[in-house]
Amino acid sequence: MDFQGRSFLKLLDYTPQEITALLDTAAALKAMKKAGTPHDVLRGKNIALIFEKTSTRTRCSFEVAAYDLGMGVTYLDPSGSQIGKKESIADTARVLGRIYDGIEYRGFEQEIVETLATYAGVPVWNGLTNAFHPTQILADFLTIREHFGELSGKKLVYMGDARYNMGNSLMVGCAKMGMHFVACAPAAYFPSAELIENCRSVAAQTGAVLEFETDPTKAVADADVIYTDVWVSMGEPDEVWRERIEALLPYQVNAALMKKAGEKAVFMHCLPAFHDLNTGIGRQVGEKFGLDALEVTDEVFESAQSLVFDEAENRMHTIKAVLYTSLTGKIL
Ligand code: CP
Ligand code: NVA
Repeated sequence: MDFQGRSFLKLLDYTPQEITALLDTAAALKAMKKAGTPHDVLRGKNIALIFEKTSTRTRCSFEVAAYDLGMGVTYLDPSGSQIGKKESIADTARVLGRIYDGIEYRGFEQEIVETLATYAGVPVWNGLTNAFHPTQILADFLTIREHFGELSGKKLVYMGDARYNMGNSLMVGCAKMGMHFVACAPAAYFPSAELIENCRSVAAQTGAVLEFETDPTKAVADADVIYTDVWVSMGEPDEVWRERIEALLPYQVNAALMKKAGEKAVFMHCLPAFHDLNTGIGRQVGEKFGLDALEVTDEVFESAQSLVFDEAENRMHTIKAVLYTSLTGKIL
């Protein structure tokens, strides 16, 4: 395993052993943080955070992880740089690569983050693209490991728009780690045939099981994890809400569905979630369509089966592991 200078663009680029090493490193860094043991081993280094889409968890996690490791941080917000408007991605990469020791990118096409990594000369970390959200999967898997003790063989059912960043990345992650992945949605919302084929060849090596199911009752039987995400992602037009609600409402995670999954099942969500009407968009969409929740009900979100805040905390510990391994070349 060689982590030194490695970019973290998608889980497909990492072996199961490397993903396990990242999770072990995150667990060790989490224990150090809880014990109050300083780990500012990257003093003197600086990283840039490019956000072409908004964020709470990912930005805060990169910032706090970098501060804990002793690093300086520059945040470039969706309007605060020349990127893409006056300066190409390749030029931006070469400029920032001369100034910083690493670059985080959140934005649109996967190709953009791949291009940044090609030209930067320093590690580039994917903080979410339309196609993948790999640092989220590390946090999810650390949370599952903490709760169930292991990943191998665990059944994760993804309810909802499975063809976007979260569904895609969870399928890749489950394939890599020998898990049982089920995408549950109307067939038009399954991941692309190309990505499924790619994951099937990974699964053939790891013993993972991949299933695509349109019936929620069948999908959730004996599940360990019921996972969902927003039905309309950042960057998508408001006009798609109607078609998404019509297509995905039968896939809402509610108490009846959790009951079908059984008592051992936990609920997970990358967040932010529309589980009530206490957000601007949630209220607007909820009132327009006569709904008091969208992808998950408040009852499930607030239930004892919900791990969403452990998951959110683990964003920071796992992102710290990505920064630590790529900038020190070491694992813990
Ligand atoms: N889960 C996640 O990426 O959250 P943010 O959009 O707040 O970063
Ligand atoms: N699918 C969501 C994930 C947010 C973390 C989005 O892209 O907006």
